[in-house]
Amino acid sequence: MSKILITSALPYINGVKHLGNLAGSMLPADIYARAMRLMGHEVLYICATDEHGTPAELAAQAEGMEVAAYCEAMHEAQKQAGAQFKLSYDYFGRSSAKSNHALTQAFAQQLEARGLIEERVSRQVYSNADGRFLPDRYVEGTCPSCGYEGARGDQCDGCGKLLDPVDLIDPYSAVSGSKDVEIRETNHLYLRQSALSDDLRKWVNAAKGWPPLATSIALKWLDEGLRDRAITRDLKWGIPVTNEDGSVRKGFEGKVFYVWFDAPIEYIAATQDWAAETGGDWAPWWRTDKGADEVQYVQFMGKDNVAFHALSFPTTIIGSGEPWKLVDQLKAFNWVTWYGGKFSTSQKRGVFMDQALDIAPSDYWRWHLTANAPEGSDAAFTWEEFQSSVNSDLANVLGNFVNRITKYCAGKFDGKLPAGGTPGEAEAWIEAELATRIPQLIKCYEAREFRKAMTETRAIWAAGNEYLTQAAPWTHYKTDVDQAAIGVRYGLNLVALFGIIAQPVIPDAAAKILDAIGVPEDKRSWNFGETTDVKALLSALPEGQAIAAPDVLFSKIEDTDIEAWTERFGGAEG
Ligand code: 2FM
Ligand code: ZN
Repeated sequence: MSKILITSALPYINGVKHLGNLAGSMLPADIYARAMRLMGHEVLYICATDEHGTPAELAAQAEGMEVAAYCEAMHEAQKQAGAQFKLSYDYFGRSSAKSNHALTQAFAQQLEARGLIEERVSRQVYSNADGRFLPDRYVEGTCPSCGYEGARGDQCDGCGKLLDPVDLIDPYSAVSGSKDVEIRETNHLYLRQSALSDDLRKWVNAAKGWPPLATSIALKWLDEGLRDRAITRDLKWGIPVTNEDGSVRKGFEGKVFYVWFDAPIEYIAATQDWAAETGGDWAPWWRTDKGADEVQYVQFMGKDNVAFHALSFPTTIIGSGEPWKLVDQLKAFNWVTWYGGKFSTSQKRGVFMDQALDIAPSDYWRWHLTANAPEGSDAAFTWEEFQSSVNSDLANVLGNFVNRITKYCAGKFDGKLPAGGTPGEAEAWIEAELATRIPQLIKCYEAREFRKAMTETRAIWAAGNEYLTQAAPWTHYKTDVDQAAIGVRYGLNLVALFGIIAQPVIPDAAAKILDAIGVPEDKRSWNFGETTDVKALLSALPEGQAIAAPDVLFSKIEDTDIEAWTERFGGAEG
């Protein structure tokens, strides 16, 4: 058994996340964590809110709140949303935590001592009306290249060119709209990523088990030539730039570290906070001199995060010259789109995490978003496909199977697992089916191929229905009760198996199923890794065991529901 460290990209603090955010990092990380725990691995799953940066300050301002109070409230809201979606974090931290301040400052000092951080002068747009330097995308003006009038400082939407905000014609502040802006010189710290290009390329080329999406993005950045990055910003909210004695660095009053410098460091700091809170030990997870070489570290993220995780954060880690753990597997996802377009709160397009659970229980979302995970390409969410996932996969394939056989047992066998009968052709068929499908399912999880894992899960459930059709205990009952008994016994053992393999993805329904047929907690783990003995799996429930039919497991989604939701959240024409 191994130790597996799992992190999912830290959700930004401003605003509740939409279903696409959930599907591309936190949800698959949770499903992987659950599957690996069930297989007996020692798992630590860490996440946190990403609390710094301009958007956090502006969102707080818009709410009329102090940034610290805003972040605290939003952290609680996101923590609660995560719990409602059954995200099984071992720890959900905050990038604004003391531990992250200390660690970020220590990394920066170490990198500077090793010549990898340099102070440089840059020219930036200062807004007199806002009393602040404006981050690139908060300066707007006319594009110097094509004359487009609403160009953003970082990129022109008219011609697509990457811009430097100081080059915009007639610049103005996108924060206040004020034209009272000027260009000022200001000092910033730069991380010399370029100095580590060769090391990073070697490391990326040697990486195993990354999806092509992740490797190709990382190599593209390396091929284009890694640029040194400013890792400080002119902001009040964030981690101050300090000297070793804790005093603020000269010339860096009113500046803080760039959010993307401190956010990934929070993976480590949150682990320290987890340890402090639980009495655990963080170092064996993160320090290779303390055993972290034995840890398998897996990161989950959307494709826009790859460069930061495959290049910038590794620059911090490698550049420190200290024995920190690097990521082993970087699992990147494409986007979930809303009918092919973007999610948007203002335009009422798409469902956000806090609204989703008014519509349907978390299991329904978890199943649909995973069965349609944006792994090979972007994946469009549509209400029609959501309806079909729930109605056919969950209600018809799994729900009906469980209901049919548990109810039949209650009706004809007094609600007790029956003995008797001799296995025949139908039993041989399902045994053979499972003997290939279960190892396949395990492989999919181990390879973090979530769509395929769901296809395999559904195929196993469907094989159960096929088995019942073949075994047809209801036909045999009248003439040969023993023959019927074996069908019911196999059927109920299949219910147990189906509940067990459902646990990573639909934990609530799985628990209901396993409770109804009395599978004790300590028999719910996934020891298939060792047990390819399908016969043993299909005779796991003791004869005479009390069996109840669970309450309705899944209710079907009606066309009228789809109409109402389309109206409220948008749909094909929305
Ligand atoms: O893209 C995002 O949502 C970022 N907040 C992810 C940060 S991941 C990490 F490195 F902290
Ligand atoms: Zn342009």
